[in-house]
Amino acid sequence: MNDAARILIVDDSPATREVLDRNLRAEGHVVVSAANVAAAMAILNQGPIDLVITDMRMPGADGMELVRNVRDHHRGTGVIMVTGFATVGGAVSAMRGGVDDYLPKPFSDEELRHAVAAALDKVRQRREIDAPVPVEAPDGLIGASAAMQRVYRLIARAASASVPVLITGESGTGKELVARAIHYRGPRASAPFLAVNCAAIPETLIESELFGHAKGSFTGATAARQGFFVAADGGTLFLDEVAELSPIAQAKLLRVLQEQTVQAVGSDQPRAVDVRVIAATNKDLEGLARDGKFREDLFFRLHVLPIEMPPLRERDGDVVPLLRHFLAAAAEQCSAPAPRVTESAVEALRRYSWPGNVRELQNLAQRLVIFADAGVIDTVDLPTVMRYVAPPSPPSPAAGAPFSPLHRTLREVELAHIRAVLESVGGNKTRAATILGIDRKSLRERLKATEAGDGAEPGTPNAESR
Ligand SMILES: Nc1ncnc2c1ncn2[C@@H]1O[C@H](COP(=O)(O)OP(=O)(O)OP(=O)(O)O)[C@@H](O)[C@H]1O
Ligand SMILES: [Mg+2]
Repeated sequence: MNDAARILIVDDSPATREVLDRNLRAEGHVVVSAANVAAAMAILNQGPIDLVITDMRMPGADGMELVRNVRDHHRGTGVIMVTGFATVGGAVSAMRGGVDDYLPKPFSDEELRHAVAAALDKVRQRREIDAPVPVEAPDGLIGASAAMQRVYRLIARAASASVPVLITGESGTGKELVARAIHYRGPRASAPFLAVNCAAIPETLIESELFGHAKGSFTGATAARQGFFVAADGGTLFLDEVAELSPIAQAKLLRVLQEQTVQAVGSDQPRAVDVRVIAATNKDLEGLARDGKFREDLFFRLHVLPIEMPPLRERDGDVVPLLRHFLAAAAEQCSAPAPRVTESAVEALRRYSWPGNVRELQNLAQRLVIFADAGVIDTVDLPTVMRYVAPPSPPSPAAGAPFSPLHRTLREVELAHIRAVLESVGGNKTRAATILGIDRKSLRERLKATEAGDGAEPGTPNAESR
């Protein structure tokens, strides 16, 4: 595609359009122009465009509106934003809004050529990953939704490369499963896969756990220890909850990635290692890096091949196969036949929003197998929060409907949501608080405040028992 692309120029200034047009045609591209966003959208709807080069400020709708339109309706089209007032902040927010590259005015022919080539390259990669060829799910991963197909293609690509991978996504979306799939599908499969939860190791120990320590390097270091990087030599190290690494550990990790050597605590001998790093987080690592709460240089090192796990509510059609899989697995565990799920129960589960994602579904399946009477699961057997989710359309005339979610107080909705989240994480309050975006203390207070007059719902774990 780099040879001859179809490029759309959007600018209100005829002079700019003219310059761009001449330059791009000289490169062999097919060029069309529009003087405003409305005209550009009309052209986009007429046929495939590989790349849009748009001005930011124009009379009428501005460039960002065009970018949103392209991102929503023409995923396979690239965008370069031309900015006349190039502030770093503006450029960054443009990139976050889905722009592939930006060009500060004035730009040279060389800069234009460079930006166009880079953007077309991104477009090609994106089309490859979004191509509607069904790919087989790697071992252990269930779901054939478009969102997961995209993940499977990224796993295949990651498996065949040795670059660092950063897996982001809400809690319970399968980040660890994806990390394993990448390792076991690639050339390192016969070498170790080690998973380290960075949040579970005390800050004082993390350095020595990861990089090892020399004998006598600190009180209590009675023997030398090799650390996870050396133990994973030749294989893959999965750094889960990577956002929790201390600044010192971050600095050392950066060095390992840059130089492929580790230095044990208290040792001045760097040791060469060949470790593939896959990191995961449910935090917005890019945001943390921007706010100076995570090393930006390390973020870029880890972010070489990003994989964003879609939340379960965005995986069209995956709830049912996952449910069947987990019901069968749970039934086998207790040597019972897998229960049947009624149509209306399936419908309710499909509409539910799954704040705890796949893990919540897995926990539910385990509970349902234990509580299913007569091998049938009906809507009444589901937790209350899952039973009365309003159908998406047409809007129902809620008046008089006894259990309508529209007839609940905010407090009731809040409590139901808190409980659903708690349940999805098996009652673990620290995890629940993270998902809910509050701290453990406020979680406890909210539960206490609502508990007084509230009967526990069937099947909801007693939140205070842990
Ligand atoms: N697509 C899937 N198919 C089958 N099982 C899945 C899938 N996704 C997740 N699971 C299962 O759901 C559970 C949660 O997955 P996992 O631990 O990988 O999530 P996570 O994103 O790492 O969550 P957290 O951020 O809370 O650590 C695991 O038991 C995993 O096996
Ligand atoms: Mg995990």
